[in-house]
Formats: sequence, structure tokens, C-alpha cells
Amino acid sequence: MKYSLFLLLLIASVTLYGQKREGIALTPPMGWNSWNTFECDHVNETVIKEMADAMVSSGMREAGYQYINIDDCWQIGRDSSGHIIVDSIKFPHGMAYLADYIHAKGLKFGIYSDAGTKTCAGRPGSKGYERIDAQTYAQWGVDYLKYDWCYTEGQEAIASYTLMRDALYETGRPIVFSICDWGTSDTWTWAGEVGHLWRTTYDITDRWDGTVWGNLLGIVNILEKQVGLEKYAGPGGWNDPDMLEVGNQRLSLNESRVHFTLWCMLAAPLITGNDLRNMADPVKELLTNRELIAINQDSLGKQGFKIYDEGNFEVWQKPLRHGEMAICFLNLGNREKQVEGRWDTFNIREFTGAYRWQNLWNPQEQGETEEALSLTIPPRDVWVVRLRKR
Ligand code: GLA
Repeated sequence: MKYSLFLLLLIASVTLYGQKREGIALTPPMGWNSWNTFECDHVNETVIKEMADAMVSSGMREAGYQYINIDDCWQIGRDSSGHIIVDSIKFPHGMAYLADYIHAKGLKFGIYSDAGTKTCAGRPGSKGYERIDAQTYAQWGVDYLKYDWCYTEGQEAIASYTLMRDALYETGRPIVFSICDWGTSDTWTWAGEVGHLWRTTYDITDRWDGTVWGNLLGIVNILEKQVGLEKYAGPGGWNDPDMLEVGNQRLSLNESRVHFTLWCMLAAPLITGNDLRNMADPVKELLTNRELIAINQDSLGKQGFKIYDEGNFEVWQKPLRHGEMAICFLNLGNREKQVEGRWDTFNIREFTGAYRWQNLWNPQEQGETEEALSLTIPPRDVWVVRLRKR
């Protein structure tokens, strides 16, 4: 009798542990996160509620965006039982209240912590409190956890992230697990077993290119670091080239278009980081482009890859279901780019037969791949099409 009880417990614990939650993030997660615009000092309950409101009123929810995620700086300490304490000045009604507010809008709620002793902004981390924190998040109604990697001296990434993965799994609540060790452990090689998305680089900033303060990267710098990572991504586990800067200050509209298009091609999580309450119309049009979102969310779950490189001119391909594909012609240079030539000169993989193409930023523009290409791409811009077999 005792022996069979022991066996039962053993089987129960083996089925409870040792895996990530399956069946979620089957396409790249879409949502919004507070960090890129509000950072530490300006995030609070009002901002989060207004962002949930704006997600709905702007049409972004209808376009597929779901998560409203609070990043760093919501937590201030721990009580004597080890439970995390929410900053009651910034979040006077607590997190369960916010989760309810967000859920009532048909959206999902995300939160942030860190695998070390402190978060990157110096707030309490989850080290040693993984299970208690996971239980707390589940009780609040959290649907997504971003888990950072500051203050982790002496810790090993796989073990630390696996600990939180198991703690989340144990809650029984489906929670998307976002790994954020910036690719420093060749994260893509192991993270598919542990999380649903994993950062591949240090932080993004709203610049075309260049490195700022040693570790903030421009859009183009991040893009180049994705080459070769495509084989690690698929339904339930995505490379994360960081949150979107579309619509933020230092990117021009065409630079934002390149950024959004390439993140769609990469099957990257589309976590916006702009102020949704006062988006200019052209920015809203970028973020809600149905054709591009369909490329990103295609159920085949293939990450796009570079097939052609002439320096300032690149071609990227993303396979789609039913033998369709997206092809993106990217002008990284500061001058117009003339593209002339037959379709079969760009190394497109599995390019068999004749296709009809459709420009995804201008769906009226269509043509046949049997005709040679002839186009002009403005500086720092893209020409992106979907190919359907005829
Ligand atoms: C790290 C992460 C960022 C953000 C900040 C918060 O830098 O990479 O995305 O979460 O911490 O402090």
C-alpha cells in the first residue's frame, strides 16, 4: 500500500516537473511592454490601464495583439514570509486588480522578474523565491513572465531558468515564459526546452544602427545577429530579437517600416514598446498591417533567413504554409536602390514553378514571377511580397 502511494507520488511529480508548458505561444506572442517608453520611473497603474484601453481602441487587439506586460520596477521588497511586495505608490490597487482589468478587456497580463538577487533596476529578484513567486503570479492571474539575468554572479543560466520553468509549470496556470539572458549562454541552443521565447542580444534602442553605452543596439545591428538562428525557432519557442521600437522618437517612419517588416520576417515576438495612447496614424498603420502580421503569425512557424547579401542590399525569405513564401528586399543604404533581374537570381529556396506576387505594404501592386523584377527601393526601406503558387 505504502509502496503504491510512493509510486503514485513519483509518477505525479515526474509529470508535473521537467517540462515547459506546451500548447502556448504556438505563434510568436504579440503585445505591449512598458520598458522601451516608460522604463523604471514612469511605469504605474494608470499607464498600464490606459495602455490596455488604447490596445482596444486603436484596433491593435483586433489585429492580434494580446499581452499587456509590466517590465521592471513594480516591486519594492519582500515580507517576512518571503512574498514579493508590490510598490503601492505606483500600483495602489495591486496586481490582481490590474490582471482583472486587463482580462476584462479580452487581453492578457504579463509581469517581469529576474533570476538573480536583484532585477536590472535593483528591485528584488526571484533567486531563492522561485516557487513562491510563481505561485503569487498565478494567483494574481499572470499569463506571461519575462525573466531577466542581472545580479546572477555564480549562477548557471540553464539551471536558473529551468528552476523557474518548473515553478511556473507547477502552478498549473499556462504562463508564457520569456527568457532574457541576452543570448549570453548561446541561449537558442537550450532554451527551446525551457521557455517560449528567448532574447538573442543585448537591449534594443530606437536607432537605425550603432551601439550606445556599450550595450544598446540599433535595429540593423540586432538584425545581423539573427543570421543562422532560424533553425532554433518554431511553434512554442521563438528567438527574440527584443521588443519593438516602432514609432519611437529616433526612428523615421521608413526605418520603423524596415524594423517591423524584418521582425515579421523573423517570426519574432511582436511586443510593441511605444506609447499606444497617442500613436500617429502612420505608426498605427504599420503596427496593424494585417498582411505583415499574417506573415509573422503563419502557423508553419518558420523564421525567415537571409538568402542574398550585397552589403547594403539584402534579400530575406520566410517560408509560409501551403508552399507560399514571403520575400523581403531590403535597402540598408542611404541611396535609392535599383533592383533589376530575374526572380531566380536571388537564391530563393524551394522556388519551384510560377508564382503570383503581392506587395504587402501596397496590396494592389501585384505581378508574376515569370516577369523580371524592376523596382526602386528608397533609402533605408523595404519591398516585401507574398508569393502564391499559380
Ligand atoms: C534588461 C532587459 C531589458 C529591461 C531592463 C529592465 O536590460 O534586457 O529588456 O527589462 O533590464 O531593467
